[in-house]
Amino acid sequence: MIPLILSGGSGTRLWPVSRRNLPKQFLALSGDGTLFQQTVQRAEQLPDAAPPIVVASEDHRFLVADQLLDAGVEGAAIILEPLPRNTAPAIALGALKAMASDADAVLLVLPADHLIGDPASFRNAVARARPAAQQGWLVTFGIRPDRPDTGFGYIRRADPIDAHTYRVGRFVEKPDLATAQSYLADGGYEWNSGMFLFKASRYLQELQQHAPAMLAAAREAFASARADLDFIRIDRDAFARVPENSIDYAVMEKTAHAAVVPVDCAWSDIGSWSALWLAGTRDADGNLREGDTVAMNTRNSLLRSHARHLVATVGVEDLIVVTTPDATLVAHRDAAQDVKRVVDELKASG
Ligand code: GDD
Ligand code: MG
Repeated sequence: MIPLILSGGSGTRLWPVSRRNLPKQFLALSGDGTLFQQTVQRAEQLPDAAPPIVVASEDHRFLVADQLLDAGVEGAAIILEPLPRNTAPAIALGALKAMASDADAVLLVLPADHLIGDPASFRNAVARARPAAQQGWLVTFGIRPDRPDTGFGYIRRADPIDAHTYRVGRFVEKPDLATAQSYLADGGYEWNSGMFLFKASRYLQELQQHAPAMLAAAREAFASARADLDFIRIDRDAFARVPENSIDYAVMEKTAHAAVVPVDCAWSDIGSWSALWLAGTRDADGNLREGDTVAMNTRNSLLRSHARHLVATVGVEDLIVVTTPDATLVAHRDAAQDVKRVVDELKASG
């Protein structure tokens, strides 16, 4: 089994800490080490895991190499994308790389920006998913939802395949709020965790069926790759011709071969400051505090200061306050998803 670590996202909702040159997966936001390092180490602890394939932006090549070294992970293949094309092409590159040395390779696709509080349960779920993946199912890991979050894919479970795995009856990527609410009320839906286990060959067959132009262009881009130090560099012009899409829209919503293994492993996608607040260890007033902070009569807030910059709050609740050397964010916790609009605005104004 080969872990395929997706590390190309930009994490704009965690501005101002997450930046273009240092996106969230390369930051120590919670727990020991960065989210990327926690992911590769979690993968390494799986029985029979080969060294990982990492697919990342070429801008982050030295971050990836340094953080792998620092985490003590050896032998990784690092594929560099000259521009982002979302997850379906990134996984295609990883699948082509895996199949170059093993036509039967099984891939464990892992986003580099998730927290897993209970790694033993995660390992257990991967073992449970293995037989179905080997038989040609695209297995997702289903998380029991506790809120109608519109940032996730929703999976409706159908008939069992084996003792631990079910067919997916329906896969709906990022529904609107009313739909997400109806799924929660229905009770029969799980979140797609964004982690997948499948044979590399099966994934490529699915692309052939549901996104043939993407597969053809990804094959050409992979054929154009050249080795450079420890990196596999993809040609910019060839990769620019690959249509952009996520695995969820391009494959998972369409395939007849999706399966789900339920997993309860204290999982969270650290997509926004409110997600970090939810996942973190909060004090008796419900505050998550990092660095030098004074919180007086302050509740259910996230306060994060850098270096020796003191952050003090008085008489507030449900706030996010994050300082860095050159920027300060103050937001309502309910507006955490909109932080990316600040980044859009900054980009637009150059
Ligand atoms: N290499 C590479 N290239 N990686 C990418 C790219 C890319 O162009 N775009 C995103 N990634 C990485 C991100 O860094 C992240 O680790 C992972 O792929 C998933 O991308 P996100 O952009 O974070 O996806 P999402 O959170 O909106 O949605 C996905 O994850 C949810 C769970 O967290 C979907 O799979 C949802 O269905 C799922 O519920
Ligand atoms: Mg995500």
